[in-house]
Order: sequence, then C-alpha cells, then structure tokens
Amino acid sequence: MAGKKGIKTIGVLTSGGDAPGMNAAIRAVVRSGISHGLNVKGIRRGYTGLINKDIIDMEARSVSDIIQRGGTVLQTARCQEMLTEEGVQKAADNAKDAGIDGLVVIGGDGSFKGALALSKHGINVVGIPGTIDLDVSCSDYTIGFDTAVNTAMEAIDKVRDTSTSHQRCSIIEVMGRNAGYLALWCGLANGAEDILLPEIYDYDEQQIVDHILANRKRGKKHHIIINAEGIGHSIGMAQRIEAATGLETRATILGHMQRGGSPTCKDRVTATTMGCYAVDILCEGKKSRVVVEKDGHITDFDIDEALAMQKDIPEYQVAISRSLAI
Ligand code: F6P
Repeated sequence: MAGKKGIKTIGVLTSGGDAPGMNAAIRAVVRSGISHGLNVKGIRRGYTGLINKDIIDMEARSVSDIIQRGGTVLQTARCQEMLTEEGVQKAADNAKDAGIDGLVVIGGDGSFKGALALSKHGINVVGIPGTIDLDVSCSDYTIGFDTAVNTAMEAIDKVRDTSTSHQRCSIIEVMGRNAGYLALWCGLANGAEDILLPEIYDYDEQQIVDHILANRKRGKKHHIIINAEGIGHSIGMAQRIEAATGLETRATILGHMQRGGSPTCKDRVTATTMGCYAVDILCEGKKSRVVVEKDGHITDFDIDEALAMQKDIPEYQVAISRSLAI
C-alpha cells in the first residue's frame, strides 16, 4: 500500500546532542509510517550516517521496548561535514538514492539548519525539536527538557542537603552552553539564591559576594548558585567567592548525567505526538516544515520562517527568582 501524496518511503534520524524522549519520537515515526503504508528507513549517527550511507530498514519490531529508554537507538553526532556544500550534496544524493521522499530530523536549531540546507537540494524534510536546552526558538517546548530539568533538580536537592548541614555556599553548574532555560528552571525549582544565565550574566562577582553576605546576616544557612555551562568556570568562581566571603564554598558540575535517563511522561507523550504529527503532515504533502508546540497545541511552521524566529528568556521568571532569594 503506498502512502498519500506520492510518499512511499520516509527516513528518520537524530542529530546533535541526544535528549531523553528521542527514542519515543523514533518509535512514533516508524510505527506511524508503517501504519500509513510507508517504508521507513533509520539513518544512524545523524547526518554523519546519511553522508556515509549508514541507512537501515525499520520495522515495527525495530522500535520495540525503546519508549522508556534514554539516549537514541539510532545514535547521533554533531556533523561538521554538514556545514560544507560538499557534505550537504552527498547527504542529499544519498537520501535520493535510498528513495527517501520525506526525512524526519529530530534535533535542535543546528540540526534544522542542516535540514534546511537539504530542503534546498530537493529533499523534503520535517524537523522535530529535541534538545534538553529548550532553545529551539520556534517551539515553546523541546523533547528532553522536562526529563533533564527534573534530573538536575533532584541532584541539586541532594547538594542542598549537605550545603545546609555545613552552612556552605554551593555553586552548581548545569548544562546550557548558549541557553539558560535549564539553569533558570532549576533555580526556580530549587529555590536558588543566585541564577547565572549566559543571556544576561554581567560577570559582576562582587554583587554575588554582597548577596551572600547580606543573606548570612538575614540568617540563611546556605547559598545556592546555579551557574549555566555557558558561563562555566565554577571551580575558580568557588575559590574566589570563598576568599571574598570567608565562607566555605564548593562547586559541583552536573554534566552529561542531565542528558541521560528514562524520559518523563511529558517527554514520552510530546515525542509520540510530534512523531505521529510529522508523518501525518508528510502524508498530507506538506514540505519543509518544523513540528512545534505553540500555546499548548502541536502545529507546524515553514522551516525557513521557523529558523528566523527568536525566543527570549522570560523576564518575569528572572525577576521573581530574584525577589524570592532573600
Ligand atoms: O545538547 C545540548 C547540550 O547538552 C548543551 O547543554 C551543552 O552545552 C552541549 O550539549 C554539550 O555538548 P557535548 O555533547 O558536545 O558535550
């Protein structure tokens, strides 16, 4: 049985940093594709696999028992070759050779740039936002964020216990090279005294020192600073703050543990919905789209327009985090 609008074969790949829920999205794309009567191909290691023809046939059973697993069974890569015209050409040629009429790309903005380049070479693409950073501008939500923020929140609660016992200052570094959403949400969820976001941090350490000393006078037993990876240097910062305040200060870098683990219900359901939606719009004949969550609904945007959109750090949440840290 052939799919609608001339689509017979679709491909799916995961690209960039992995995120919990990517497997649920892969499962939805594969099984929804098969339900629509399509052939489904899995491309391993993201665009690297497409450039190297690492393409496998996917059956309903290929995606058994993965909905609850972190990581991505298709594996992923940050593919430098896709930044070159030769790389994009090779990827497009290989997609055409494999008979792929529609390619589902699960990843972040960087991965969508690759998808846009492929679309300019005649490959029909649909993006699904998947990154723990929440920094895909066109979408209110990205698959993996909820799991990652809950993983980090639980870890920070544990650091807080020991920080209070020892009446210390604790700097906890969370992921986010360019984006502070994870740091902001952890800061709010963990009741942090300071949240350092790459988007707005002014590198004024004296202000942090003054805040710590003022809070000590108010009777606070600890001082939690959430520092985003993009600012980094948490160990040096801890040494400087200890020297300036006279208070024991420790740094904890949570690192890649935030990217792993079993996806939360929200990530599984969002990934499943977006995966099915991507296949539906391919079958409707839509071209060059990104699936997004906007105002509580799953919808889709043109990929060119999607990539031009901007998303800001919510000022209100930054303001309340400050007003509560007294
Ligand atoms: O996937 C997003 C992210 O985890 C960022 O928060 C972080 O800055 C980056 O990836 C780390 O990338 P890598 O996997 O190359 O260490």
